[in-house]
Amino acid sequence: MLLSLRQKIISVNLTLLLIVTIAAGLITTFEVQNFFEERVFEQLKTHMSETEFFISTLNLSDDITESEYKSLIAFADAASIRLTLIDSLGVVIFDSWVKKDSLRYLENHLTRPEVQMALHHQYGTNERLSATTGVRLLYAARAVTPKAFENAGNLAQSKFIRAAIPIIAIEEVLSEIRWTVFVGGAFALLIIAIVSLLLSKRLTDPIRKLARVAEEVKKGNLDAHFEHGSDSDINNLAELLDEMVTKLREDVNQMQKLQTMRSQFLGNVSHELRTPIFALQGYLETFLHSTDLDIDKQRTFVEKAFQNSVRLNNLLTDLIDISRIESGEMKMSFRKIMVHDWLEKIVSEYSVKDHKKGVTVHFANRDDKIECYVMGDKERLSQVVLNLVQNAINYNKEYGTVTVGYDVLEDDVRIFVSDTGPGIGDEHLTRIFERFYRVDKERSRMVGGTGLGLAIVKHICEAHRTRVKVESKLGIGTTFSFLMKKK
Ligand SMILES: Nc1ncnc2c1ncn2[C@@H]1O[C@H](COP(=O)(O)OP(=O)(O)OP(=O)(O)O)[C@@H](O)[C@H]1O
Ligand SMILES: [Mg+2]
Repeated sequence: MLLSLRQKIISVNLTLLLIVTIAAGLITTFEVQNFFEERVFEQLKTHMSETEFFISTLNLSDDITESEYKSLIAFADAASIRLTLIDSLGVVIFDSWVKKDSLRYLENHLTRPEVQMALHHQYGTNERLSATTGVRLLYAARAVTPKAFENAGNLAQSKFIRAAIPIIAIEEVLSEIRWTVFVGGAFALLIIAIVSLLLSKRLTDPIRKLARVAEEVKKGNLDAHFEHGSDSDINNLAELLDEMVTKLREDVNQMQKLQTMRSQFLGNVSHELRTPIFALQGYLETFLHSTDLDIDKQRTFVEKAFQNSVRLNNLLTDLIDISRIESGEMKMSFRKIMVHDWLEKIVSEYSVKDHKKGVTVHFANRDDKIECYVMGDKERLSQVVLNLVQNAINYNKEYGTVTVGYDVLEDDVRIFVSDTGPGIGDEHLTRIFERFYRVDKERSRMVGGTGLGLAIVKHICEAHRTRVKVESKLGIGTTFSFLMKKK
């Protein structure tokens, strides 16, 4: 069975206390008993010496009289002891608890343990039930000093003095002590029980609180808050749990956002794919079903179908690029690039092209070549510039210009593409890097745009640890630029 923390604390405390109480009770009783018995034997010794002295002062006649016997009894009673005189053969000559004429009925006392001990060691003690009186007694016996009893009548035959005292007196004190220890122990037990109950409550309450909140979190309530208690350990734990839940909340939010983005993206993709496919199907269908088309019309239809298949292909290429960049599958191979030569080559390819709108593409640094290198994946960076130039041409005015160039700064090279187009409104500026985002859908579609170009640009720049910056003035033009570290 698993015990709760509280049950453990209480049971451990109580068990310990119980052991201590019992041990203390046993030890004190034992010690007190020893102490008392020693004291009693000391007393008995004194009484025996007093008896010896008393008898030596009596000057008794040969056969001691009844009244002499009684005064001896009175002497013993005054000391509250039982006094016995025994001769060398074990015959009792005097006993303060026995009448003079009953003495002869007494057993021989030589075999009594205390007498035996006195016989061999001068002094002996014993504790037992008295056969003569039926009372539990503590006995002490000693051999008589021969000179002491010179004038003691027939008592002069005494070989041993024995003094005894009932044990009841000691027993009473002992049981009183035992009772005190028991009551004290029970009282301490009660107090400790209460204290450990309170203490364990204090200790386990905050833990239970934490557990309740954790239960809430488990059920999915990520707004649950772990309360901080007064205990530093539990505080730490609560703080950690709070941080954990915050992190979890952020992760879940992020995941939900990604999830929405993903499904939006999927919706957009299918929509974008459907447009050229429908167009393609339409042209081919008309071409197939009409019998009276002249050769020029037929050619136009096939051309249109071809354009849409190209568009479809471009779209797929872009999509594949994006997903490869996002999944980290696209590996960049970084090399040193000579900025001037690289940009000049890109621009030269455009310059020779004949644009429908008559847009011209300039290279700003044509006449002042600077030896300057950056590190990057040349093919990917070319893709960035080409995308920007393509946009600058597509969204330009008729006979407008596009300028491509670079500025060499202290640590970086700034690469830019600017145009003389209509510009981009502030409300669109932050969004044009989103996938499929187009400022003017119709116009974009006309120029064959899918809205993925700038998203790809953004990703490639991020992979090069840089950001595309865009500045635009409505009616004047737009400049896209990014910084690369000089090498
Ligand atoms: N130089 C520019 N001047 C004005 N608007 C621009 C410029 N470049 C981009 N835009 C706007 O930003 C939108 C997003 O550009 P992006 O390159 O991502 O897509 P696209 O050109 O429409 O399609 P794609 O490049 O994938 O063929 C464009 O549709 C256009 O509306
Ligand atoms: Mg574009």
